[in-house]
Amino acid sequence: MKRFARTLLPMALTLVSATASLALFPDAVAQPAAVKLNPGAELQPVYATPQDVAEGKRVAEKSCAGCHGVNGISTTKGTPHLAGQRPAYLFLELKAYQVGARSDAAMTAAVKFLSDDALVKVAAYYTSLDPAQPTPATSPKAGVAKPDPVQAGKAAAAGCAGCHGESGVSKTPGMPSLVGLDPKYLLVSMKAYKSGQRKNDMMKTFLSALSDADLNNIALYYALQKPARAQTPVEGDAAAGKAAAGACAGCHGEQGVSSSAANPSLAGQDAQYLVAALQGYKEGSRSDETMKALAASLDEAAIRNLSAYYAKLEPRAPNVRKPMSIAELAVRCDRCHGVDGNASDPRLAAISAQRVDYLENVLRAYQTGARKSSAMSAMSQALSDSDIEGLAAHYASKKARSVIYITLPAK
Ligand code: HEC
Ligand code: HEC
Ligand code: HEC
Ligand code: HEC
Repeated sequence: MKRFARTLLPMALTLVSATASLALFPDAVAQPAAVKLNPGAELQPVYATPQDVAEGKRVAEKSCAGCHGVNGISTTKGTPHLAGQRPAYLFLELKAYQVGARSDAAMTAAVKFLSDDALVKVAAYYTSLDPAQPTPATSPKAGVAKPDPVQAGKAAAAGCAGCHGESGVSKTPGMPSLVGLDPKYLLVSMKAYKSGQRKNDMMKTFLSALSDADLNNIALYYALQKPARAQTPVEGDAAAGKAAAGACAGCHGEQGVSSSAANPSLAGQDAQYLVAALQGYKEGSRSDETMKALAASLDEAAIRNLSAYYAKLEPRAPNVRKPMSIAELAVRCDRCHGVDGNASDPRLAAISAQRVDYLENVLRAYQTGARKSSAMSAMSQALSDSDIEGLAAHYASKKARSVIYITLPAK
C-alpha cells in the first residue's frame, strides 16, 4: 500500500479507550459472516489521508448525495444522516449492503459497483463531516416522552382509594384489598365488570370511563404496592377453615398465594369480601363454573371458616417488576453506543442526533429480524412499541460529538 506523507487520526475516537469496550463486548463488533474482510481491515477508513477524504467526497457527490446530501445530513424520511458517523461502522455497513447481509434495494444498487477502495474513502468522507443538530425532545417529531406507567396508574386509581385503601389495602369490611394480586387477574376482573360479565353496577360505573391503558396502569400500580393483610375484622374459626382448605390449595396456593395469574391469591384478603364472593358463586350471582361447583357444597359456617383462614394468611407480592424507564434503558444502550449514543469504538454506530424515524425503523427491523445482529436482536426483543418511540426520541435529541481527524507529522 502506498504510504502517504501525512496521516489523519480521528481524535474523538483515539481519546477514548476503545479497548475497554472491545474487551467487554467482543462479539458486539464482529463482522457479519457474509462480509469477508481480513480481520481489522474494517479499520482502513480510520487511517484515511486528506487525499482519501477528498476522493471520498467525489464518490459521495456522484453516488450518494441525492439521498444522504453532500453534507451527510438527510432530509428524507427513512434515510439516515451519515455525517460524523463512525468510520469503520460505515465501511462495514456498506460492505453488508454490497454482499446482501443487510438488505435495502436503494443501498444495494448504490454500492454494487463500488470498489472497497471507494467505500473506504466515502466512509472517511462522511465521517469527517459535522454531524446533524439534535432534534429537541419537545419537537413533535421527537415524539412524546413515555409517561411512567406506575405514576399514571396511581393517578387513575385516585378515586378507588376511598373503598380499596390508599395503596390497595382495604380498611373497610366488604371491600376487597387489591394488593398481592397478579396484575393479569386484576385486569381480567376489571374488564369483566366493564363488559358486565361480572355483575356489579357500582364497579361498572367506576371503571366505565377508564381506557384499557388506564386499566393496565392501575393493575401494575396495585401489583407493585407493598402487600399487607386487610385491616378489617375477621370472624370465624380459622383452624377449621384450614382443615377444609385442602380442596383449594391446588389452585389458590398452599398459603393462599397462587402461582397462576388465572387463580387469584386469597391470603390477607378482607374476610367479609371472601364470604360474599363464595356466596356469590354458590348462588350464581358471580359466574364461574369451577368455583360454583366447589362452593355448592359449602354451608354458611364452612364459608365463614375458610374466609377467616385465608384472611389471616400473609399476602405476598406477585412476581412483577416495574418496567424500565427510557432513561434506565438508555443506560444499557450507552454501554455499547457510548455516552448519549456517541460511540467511542470506530466499529460501533453513533446514534446521537440521528433521525428519529430512521431510529424507529431500525429498532423495529432488529426486533422482527429483518436486520440481523445478535447484539441488537437480544436488546430489541424486550422493547415495547412505546420504548422504541421513547428511545428513538431520546437519542435523536442528544448532541452528536464529531469525529475529528488530526494530522500527524510524517514519519
Ligand atoms: C436512493 C437513495 C440512496 C442512495 C443513492 C444512497 N443511499 Fe445510503 N441509504 C439509503 C436509505 C433509504 C438507507 C436506509 C436503509 C436501511 O434502513 O437499511 C441508507 C442507509 C445507508 C447506510 C447505513 C447507515 C447506518 O447508520 O447504518 C450507509 C452507511 C449509507 N446508506 C451510505 C451510503 C453511501 C456511501 C452512498 C453512496 C455510495 C449511499 N448510501 C447512497 C438511501 C440511499
Ligand atoms: C364505592 C366503593 C368502591 C369504589 C370507589 C371502587 N370499588 Fe372496586 N370494588 C368495590 C366492591 C364492593 C367490590 C366487590 C364487588 C363484587 O362483589 O364483585 C370491588 C371489586 C373490585 C375489584 C375485584 C377484586 C377481586 O379480588 O376480584 C377490582 C379489581 C376493583 N374493585 C378495582 C377498582 C378500581 C380500579 C376502582 C377505581 C377506579 C374501584 N375499584 C373503585 C368497591 C369499590
Ligand atoms: C380448579 C381451581 C380452583 C379451585 C380448586 C378453587 N378455586 Fe377458587 N377460584 C378459582 C378461579 C379460577 C377463580 C376466579 C374466578 C372468577 O373469575 O370469578 C377463583 C376465585 C375464588 C374466590 C374469589 C377471589 C376474589 O379475589 O374475588 C374465592 C374467595 C375463592 N376462589 C375461594 C376458593 C375456595 C375457598 C376454594 C376451596 C374450597 C377454592 N376457591 C377452590 C379457581 C379455583
Ligand atoms: C452489546 C452491545 C450493544 C448494546 C447493549 C446495544 N447495541 Fe445497538 N448496536 C450494536 C451493534 C453491534 C450494532 C450494529 C449491528 C449491525 O451491524 O446491524 C448496533 C446497531 C444499533 C442501531 C443501528 C444504528 C444505525 O445507524 O443503523 C441502533 C439504532 C441501535 N443499535 C440502538 C440501540 C439501542 C436503542 C440500544 C438499547 C436499547 C442498543 N442499541 C443497545 C450493539 C449494541
